[in-house]
Parts: sequence; structure tokens; C-alpha cells
Amino acid sequence: MVRIDGTAVAAKVIDEIKVRVATLAARGVTPGLAVVLVGDNPASRAYVRSKDKKAAELGLFSLKKELPTTTSQDELLRLVAELNADPRIHGILVQSPPPPHIDESAIVRAIDPRKDVDGFHPENVAKLALEDPTGFVPCTPLGCLRLLEAAGIATAGKHAVVVGRSMIVGKPMALLLMRRGTDATVTIAHSRTRDLPAITRQADILIAALGKPLFLTAEHVKEGAVVIDVGINRISDSAHPKGYRLVGDVDFESVAPRCAAITPVPGGVGPMTIAMLMQNCVQAAEATPAG
Ligand code: GUN
Repeated sequence: MVRIDGTAVAAKVIDEIKVRVATLAARGVTPGLAVVLVGDNPASRAYVRSKDKKAAELGLFSLKKELPTTTSQDELLRLVAELNADPRIHGILVQSPPPPHIDESAIVRAIDPRKDVDGFHPENVAKLALEDPTGFVPCTPLGCLRLLEAAGIATAGKHAVVVGRSMIVGKPMALLLMRRGTDATVTIAHSRTRDLPAITRQADILIAALGKPLFLTAEHVKEGAVVIDVGINRISDSAHPKGYRLVGDVDFESVAPRCAAITPVPGGVGPMTIAMLMQNCVQAAEATPAG
């Protein structure tokens, strides 16, 4: 069993990005990323902090906007409009999920698609489906694909089963896997799927993106499968100093011995998501006309 080291692969991606950042610097361009958080969800706060920190480390111009839970839809729309108009900013990310009174889809549509480094705007979703490379691809599925490549796992003709149908991971993941050049045969399963183990046991490549801690166990996985665990769940654990620990959607202990390769949590997909966000931000800066 190969344990796919997301931290190491992400470090390689960051090294590639550094070269592109230096090329942009020679042109007088500093990529700028704005990360917006509304509310005080502790996991979201932690993600936003990591994104901002990584951007600063890479020498990007990084703007972190932390707004109170009481922020109105109009206030958030105004901030997005400001960021759209700000020439220092090439990428805008509004951390999901926002508080319930915010209409997330309206916020996503308000972001200039050329600055939508999350790839959530309908124009970028369409470009992914159309296999138009000028769009932005959501960071987490892009990171999963990059992990498969880095681990030397061939995808052409393989049966990939994606568990989860979210706009952030499941749907774009399925599109990426079936895209020309990747060429997997894709099945999408979700919470209403009947006899899930019978479907997931067919997977050569199993992508777990359902957001349920330790949900997929040995009975869901075929011997020799490759498992990519997208879940990052906090479960309470009084033995840990923070009072919780992070686990994936996959029960690593029972599943790992059956696998050809598997990503751990933490240290698998998580660091890749952040690296891909930096990559998308640099792509946005490169696409911005000079002057
Ligand atoms: N929440 C969980 N993952 C993501 C992501 O990739 N982007 C944003 N904006 N919010 C998220």
C-alpha cells in the first residue's frame, strides 16, 4: 500500500508556482488574492488563515477580509464589487459555507469570472463542462487529479467512482475525470444511492467527498483500489490538546490495507487544495493584460 503524500506533492506544486511568480515579478506584476470570510465557523477560519498564510509566503499580495456573521447580503455584494474593480486583486475567494441569510449563489455570480479562482461562477462551471482551458477549475478536485498524476496512477479506461455530488468537489471531480486526456469511466454516487457498497466496490479509483466522518469502510472498497479521501472532519477527542482530531470520510485503518494507494487525512488532499488555489491565482494574474 502506497500512502500518497499530499504535503510533498503540494510542496512541488508550490516550487513550480514560485517560478511563475518570479516571471510575473519581472513583468512588474504581483498576483493578488482576496480571501473573504463571513462569520466565525472555526474550520472556515482555519482554512482562510492557511490560504492567506500560503499566499503571503509565496510573495503574493494577500488581502484577508473577516466580516461578522451579521454582514448583510448587500454589504457582501459591495465588497465583491470593490474587489472586482481593484487592480491589485487577481483572485477572489469567498469561503463557503456563508451564514444562512446569505444567498451564496448570488455572491458567486457577482464575482468577475476572470477573478473566480474557486471556479464556482457559472461561466467557469460551463467552461469545465465544455473542456475550455481558459476557465478556472475548482481547487479541491484539481488537487485530487494532480495527486493521482504525481502518484503515477493511470486513469484512462479506469472506473472512477465519486461519492458526493457537491458543486465544490463531486460534480467538478466527475467532469475532470471523464475529460479527454484523463479518460476515466465515471460513476457518481450520493446520499440517495441504493446499495452504495455494491457501487463503490466496482471502483478502481474511489473519490470520497461526502463529508461524513469515517463513513467508507473496508466493505466499500475493492482489493487493489486507489482511494482519494477529500473529507476533513473534526471529531471530538479529549486525548487531543485541541479537544478534537481530523479524520477523513474514509476509515483509514480498515481501508488502507486493501488499497494499492490511499491519501491520509490530514496530509493528503488538504494541502493540495491550497496549492491549487495559489496556482489558479497565478493563472489569473498571467491572464491579466499588462498596463
Ligand atoms: N469551502 C470548502 N472548500 C472550499 C473551497 O475550495 N473554496 C471556498 N470558497 N470555500 C470552500
